Amino acid sequence: MSQPSTEPAEKLRSQPVRTSENQLFCCKSIDKLIAESEVPGQRLQKSLGPWSLTALGIGAIIGSGIFILTGTAAAGENFQAPSILHAQVLDIIVNFLRGGGMAQVLMHGRPPAGPSIAISFFLVALACSFAGLCYAELASMIPIAGSAYTYSYATLGEIFAWIIGWDLILEYVVSNVVVAIGFAAYSKAQLASFGINLPDRWSTPVWESGHWTGAYFNFPAFLIVFILTVLLVRGVRESAEANNIMVAIKIGAILIFLMVGGALVNPGNWRPFAPSGFGGIVTGGAIVFFTYIGFDSVSTAAEEARNPQRDLPFGIIASLIACTVLYIGVSVVLLGMMRYTTFVSGEAAAAPVAYALKALGASRWSRSVIVVGALMGMISSLLVFQYGQARIWYAMSRDRLFPKFFSAVHPKFQTPHISTWIAGFAVGIPAGIFAISDAADLSNIGTLFAFVLVSLGVIILRRSQPDRPRVFRVPLVPWFPLISIVLCGGLMTGLTVITWVRFVVWLVLGLLIYIFYSRRRSEFAKR
Ligand code: ALA
Repeated sequence: MSQPSTEPAEKLRSQPVRTSENQLFCCKSIDKLIAESEVPGQRLQKSLGPWSLTALGIGAIIGSGIFILTGTAAAGENFQAPSILHAQVLDIIVNFLRGGGMAQVLMHGRPPAGPSIAISFFLVALACSFAGLCYAELASMIPIAGSAYTYSYATLGEIFAWIIGWDLILEYVVSNVVVAIGFAAYSKAQLASFGINLPDRWSTPVWESGHWTGAYFNFPAFLIVFILTVLLVRGVRESAEANNIMVAIKIGAILIFLMVGGALVNPGNWRPFAPSGFGGIVTGGAIVFFTYIGFDSVSTAAEEARNPQRDLPFGIIASLIACTVLYIGVSVVLLGMMRYTTFVSGEAAAAPVAYALKALGASRWSRSVIVVGALMGMISSLLVFQYGQARIWYAMSRDRLFPKFFSAVHPKFQTPHISTWIAGFAVGIPAGIFAISDAADLSNIGTLFAFVLVSLGVIILRRSQPDRPRVFRVPLVPWFPLISIVLCGGLMTGLTVITWVRFVVWLVLGLLIYIFYSRRRSEFAKR
């Protein structure tokens, strides 16, 4: 790993290096960041190699999305948007440019991608890979916990770092709420198939589509997050090993699905291939973007990687390639098994993979193996996001933007135990209350925004610190980062107005905390 400067860590800590007169634009020195991470009592254990990092990436990427959203995106959605809030921003812009009325936007539903959803998976992977290359470059030159938050503190300035850190918390919390609720629904269904029926009041969402359901608490969704929190507090090595096993099981389950489902394919179902043309492919992409969220979390493990410069880029790119191949395989097989219109509603929409297998008479044994594999997939995704989220709380606290106790490290397990518990309750409680509904979209917008800032960071850092060693370099800078910014920004416009409103509300809340708390305590505050 790159060596910190020769000054002792404590001395570096006590001397903030101001890069701007304006606190908002002060950047952290990269040498100082590395030195601070070495301070005893705040130092994390370095135990992760390249394959553990790749498994961490696959663990985060393959969650509930591939098992739920593939069918939804292929079948499309037919709704009459009751208000402008449910219209897509892109639609509003295009409609405005064409001089059309608001009514056309309000009537819009999501067109079906049909079997061409496989192309959507490929295109979204392409967009992610440009952002992934940018993450890899920054992760390899700033091997510090905190991911995009830390990178923006070193490149763009304190205010951008705050925004991105706050945004990452949103991404990690909300996507894990989605996965935990999905886990609860799948496990309830699987237990029911064995004749074990969980009481509805204790295993379903309390609040759904704007009203109370009469349920008390979705206990399985809370319980799974609680158990994983205990595992994460006990230590990253144990967690990484558990993650490796779960990743192997879920990849195995997907491969079994490809074999069992492949034998049930009727090629006639692949026609028409793209029922809504390119428009369907793009909207399908905006939905399935959720399935790729997670590869960036590899970079949150930078401080616990044995050789971050070499292994982080490897872990990010390898996990992205592996998941793209599996996703395209699942979508080709699933849309070959049944006509895309089948997945428009009901059980077929909620659990398309399980539904198709059952409807076409696959054996009970193979169905159970695949569903259990899917559940494993969700657990490992939850595990990695909880891991990453805790490290963002931890990194922001170490910079004094959050209270100090967030960055306490457990004396025995050497893990940031308090932030791990906070992350556990921040996800477990909402997962016990809410339904999936719009949560996935909110997670998408937070992630895409982070991708845009990271890509911007690569361009800025190449200019401001051209000589700093980079073990991994993005080719063709500034063009590749610019392509990433355009593609991610484009996907953001595919999201609805209500998602944008929620996102802005979250950012404003964060800015208030920054103004009244963090700004005054930061090392760059003028005292
Ligand atoms: N990519 C993760 C999933 O699909 C969040 O569940």
